[in-house]
Amino acid sequence: MNRENKNGKKVVCVVGTRPEAIKMAPVIRALREAGSSLGVRTLTLATGQHTDMLDGALRTFGLTCDHNLNIMRASQSLDHITTSVLAGAGEYFDATRPDAVLVHGDTTTTFAAALAAFYRHIRVGHVEAGLRSHDMGLPFPEEMNRVLTDRLAEWYYAPTHEASETLEREGVPRDRLWLTGNTVIDALRFILEKKGESGTGRYENEALSALAPGAPFILVTAHRRESWGEAMRRIARAASRVCEQVPGLWAVVPMHKNPAVRETIREILGGRERVVLCDPLDYADFVRCMADCRLILSDSGGVQEEASALRKAVLILRDVTERPEAVERGSGLLVGTDEDKIVNTAVSLLTDGGAMDRLLAKCDPQAFGDGHAAQKIATALLERL
Ligand code: UD1
Ligand code: UDP
Repeated sequence: MNRENKNGKKVVCVVGTRPEAIKMAPVIRALREAGSSLGVRTLTLATGQHTDMLDGALRTFGLTCDHNLNIMRASQSLDHITTSVLAGAGEYFDATRPDAVLVHGDTTTTFAAALAAFYRHIRVGHVEAGLRSHDMGLPFPEEMNRVLTDRLAEWYYAPTHEASETLEREGVPRDRLWLTGNTVIDALRFILEKKGESGTGRYENEALSALAPGAPFILVTAHRRESWGEAMRRIARAASRVCEQVPGLWAVVPMHKNPAVRETIREILGGRERVVLCDPLDYADFVRCMADCRLILSDSGGVQEEASALRKAVLILRDVTERPEAVERGSGLLVGTDEDKIVNTAVSLLTDGGAMDRLLAKCDPQAFGDGHAAQKIATALLERL
């Protein structure tokens, strides 16, 4: 555990899962750059709620953590994540005595680390604050995690106007609230620029070589707790039927590491023709897949934002979304998990150019930000420190 820099100011950025790493990476980089000349040290605490999925995401951005609590267990419970992050982060904050803690989003790492900081009177900044589905069961437990984290925070970095207005309506004073855009757009730009520089047009992941070169494909991801079981089966069956109905169409399905997800996906899609089942992809490969595919089917939060920035149609496999901008001004269509509805909507978009054009006509690639969110967050935080 790192106890250096006792007299300077210190910020601890907490990450636990893949999306936190991707979305916090630009903030960590911006804080390190802007903070170093001001004597502000930026430390990264990984809770290890995810293992390889977290490490891989940090590596993509040239980052490693300063300390890892390594809490992950196979098929872990919410209680386990909450209690071990609360205790482990608390111990780390006692040892490092940060002046501020930054958390991201809505995971259980986010909430438990914010609570540990709050118990020590350490100021908490919440990146991606203010999103609401207004249904505590959807997404579960993320909606509650985000609401509770917003109660614990002192500083709020809202990714959209809607999120900022929600926080104001909930009583957050304007001088503690910044409209920054979503840092995922910064992350996406980082990858696109890096790929441009290297000039490579190939996927790194061997599994993707099974995909016939230039073949049209849909990209499918699903992992939400509320989709486990029957809903996940409907999603997988729908993906298979779409491939059967559209001649020559493939499906690329990077499977989340959660055994509850993988078993169901394998049960339905294993051994199917023109279906590539693979491990989670490195962020750069995944971004390339999003750019190259014909259509995305996903229940992911971050993918709704990235798809909109890339002007790529995305069927949102949820009943509600805390990101209404994806539907109103992005490239998203909310279809839920009804098998026939997914199939009919996907086939229509894939075979009727007019339907696809109409969906994308409303899409503003900057609906979630302009790619400068991390800089705005770093400036706001350093000013307050
Ligand atoms: C978590 C977050 C969710 C977020 C998602 C991003 C909570 C409650 N859930 O859900 O909000 O959308 O991350 O992906 O905070 N596993 C591995 N290796 C890994 C990661 C996971 O083996 O690198 C397996 C383990 O068996 C683990 C299981 O996946 O127990 C579930 O991980 P967990 O973080 O509890 O839930 P997620 O569904 O990943
Ligand atoms: N992602 C990735 N590889 C994959 C699938 C997703 O790098 O195989 C990225 C994706 O681009 C997005 C993030 O992971 O930035 C989303 O993570 P996830 O869907 O697990 O969580 P959520 O956003 O729903 O919380």
